[in-house]
Amino acid sequence: MKKFSNVEFIMKQKTVKKLRLLLLIATGFAFKPALAQTPVITLNLANANTNVSPMLYGLMTEEINHSYDGGLYAELIRNRIFKDSKTSPEGWSLVKDNPSAQAAIKLIAAEEHVPNDERRNAINGAMIACLRLTVEKPEGKVGIANEGYWGIPVNPSTTYKASFYIKGTDRREPPRRAWEPKPTTPPLPVIENNTPGPITVSIESNDGKTIYATGTINLEKSIYWKQYEVNLTTASDVKPTKDARFVISTNRTGVYYFNLVSLFPPTYNNQPNGFRVDLMQMLVNMKPKFLRFPGGNFLEGPTINDGFPWKTTLGPIANRPGHSGSWGYRASDGLGLLEFLEWNEDMGAEPLLAVYAGYSLDGDHVDAGPLLKPYVDDALDEIEYVIGDKSTYWGAKRAEDGHPEPFKLKYVEIGNEDWFDRSNSYDGRFKQFRNAIEAKYPQLTCISTIPATQYPSMKVTGKEPAVVDEHYYRNSWDMWENASQYDKYDRNGPKIFVGEWATREGAPTTNLNAALGDAAWMTGMERNSDLVIMSCYAPLFVNVSKDSAGHRAWQWDSDLIGYDALNSYGSPSYYVQKLFSHYLGNKIVPVTVANIPMQKAPLSRRDSAEGKAQKSVPTIFYSATMNDTTGTLYLKIVNTTAKKQDVKINLDGIGKVAPDAALVVVKGDKPDETNTITNREKIIPVTETIKGIKKSFSRKLDPYSVSIIEIKTGK
Ligand code: AHR
Repeated sequence: MKKFSNVEFIMKQKTVKKLRLLLLIATGFAFKPALAQTPVITLNLANANTNVSPMLYGLMTEEINHSYDGGLYAELIRNRIFKDSKTSPEGWSLVKDNPSAQAAIKLIAAEEHVPNDERRNAINGAMIACLRLTVEKPEGKVGIANEGYWGIPVNPSTTYKASFYIKGTDRREPPRRAWEPKPTTPPLPVIENNTPGPITVSIESNDGKTIYATGTINLEKSIYWKQYEVNLTTASDVKPTKDARFVISTNRTGVYYFNLVSLFPPTYNNQPNGFRVDLMQMLVNMKPKFLRFPGGNFLEGPTINDGFPWKTTLGPIANRPGHSGSWGYRASDGLGLLEFLEWNEDMGAEPLLAVYAGYSLDGDHVDAGPLLKPYVDDALDEIEYVIGDKSTYWGAKRAEDGHPEPFKLKYVEIGNEDWFDRSNSYDGRFKQFRNAIEAKYPQLTCISTIPATQYPSMKVTGKEPAVVDEHYYRNSWDMWENASQYDKYDRNGPKIFVGEWATREGAPTTNLNAALGDAAWMTGMERNSDLVIMSCYAPLFVNVSKDSAGHRAWQWDSDLIGYDALNSYGSPSYYVQKLFSHYLGNKIVPVTVANIPMQKAPLSRRDSAEGKAQKSVPTIFYSATMNDTTGTLYLKIVNTTAKKQDVKINLDGIGKVAPDAALVVVKGDKPDETNTITNREKIIPVTETIKGIKKSFSRKLDPYSVSIIEIKTGK
């Protein structure tokens, strides 16, 4: 055995100690959590050469959640032509001041349910049902009341335009064909024909004790339908309320028939048959570049016969029968094709027209070939209505409807979500539509609703569609995980239209966490807007009302803009989208990043059952665009975490940078914070000026925040 001298032994011990120390240091470093390095976001401004799509941000709309009836369409009367139900006059009730009064209301002449002794009350092919008020003993005021769409909004110093068709007693015996059985319904009471004279029209409290506005029409003695109009104006000291009803009343005996009862408040730009002012203003403020309409499921309808019937949505509202809709309630079609087109004009947007393509929600389809031809022809007619000049049949019709100038149109979408059509008929249907549309209108681009990236086996074969529509409804984790999906897309494939997308968290409108998901997703679309040429969130609107039994006005949770009869508000997502569209340049600025902290996404039940590992997703998201004329740079950064986050920002490849910049932030303390109909502005953007901007500067991002920094740069 080797023996050591003392000196050797001491030297050896020192070496061991040194080695131990080194080992300690090394292991210390290894086991201590790595010191987080500041994230660095570097903008390469010299290479900002790729165009941002000029139509990147638009809107998507359909009749869902009472978006139009009980929403944007300003009509206040629910079930105005009495076709919402075949069995009862929904939304309507009998009013009588005195409980001992003898009076009744009845829905009559409702399509095939018409008892043969109650015919002759249709006004035209659209208005085939009506409401009958029978007054045997009035004992004061007796009438009909409409509850509106969860209330009638009353505002001070406001003039409402009321109108309705009415006719008085007709005592002639109803016609009965020889082969028809005798009537089974009891005959009308024999009452004095006393209907002519004043009829009172009012907006009043639900208990009838407060009259907010009132007027009178003078009903002429006639057995024919006649339309009457009257303006109702509220006083300046009226307190806003939606606890009100609309009443048409009399104090005389008689039998009265009513149809197309309408009440309009002032509308956006005072357009007749127009839009609710607050909702329209919110949309205009978003500066959308296009509007995708009329759906969504609303385009398709439950059955083959229920596709959006654009032809019967034209002309005077008295000629519009309405249709079944796709979300469990009838659509009045008061907001019809022309109104959709004018809505675009009002917003400075252009229409993105979706045409019915022969597939319905119940899964039926029309085969390509001769059976589909009438549908293709119908789409060609519709396009002609939109862009044909006055010399064309449908262009002339549009001119007759009050809009001689053709509208703008670049994109026509063929159907909606046709990946649901498991028969694989879309290939043939799409091609038949595209061939016909592009032959007549070579300037138009047809959009396919089946993206090959998502449904490779169902994609359109042969000539690739120029644009495909992708839909994403996700939670915020999925949005964060997939925010960079377009970074990897093939640039030689079709352009992408993200025609429906949303982070679905929060109800009825989305919360802050959803807005953080949305913002992250939008940074990805913006960075890739050479490829993603258009995008629109869905659904846009939700009526957040509930009735006294707790039944909700809406069918779809997580929507962008909420309202009741009186008020409206934007979700945090609304504000984020508005800001993204406002603060946008025309060139994409390439960005590189370092040290972005990652976070572990929770496992879904299914993933944990399958033993999957948690995924790492970034905590910070970013995009930058610049206006190459003004030199203004727009940097968007999302911090999805509860922590304040330092970031270093480098502006490479630029001459001068102004020291002051504008900062706009949407943020909150907790991810589930939100705006509601009673707390409408809890989360709204806050703007400030920040100083000390240089070619390299630092910022502290607020927790749960979306920050937009607008920086002035120069050569
Ligand atoms: O946006 C709600 C619905 O989601 C749309 O109607 C439909 O296209 C999609 O499935």
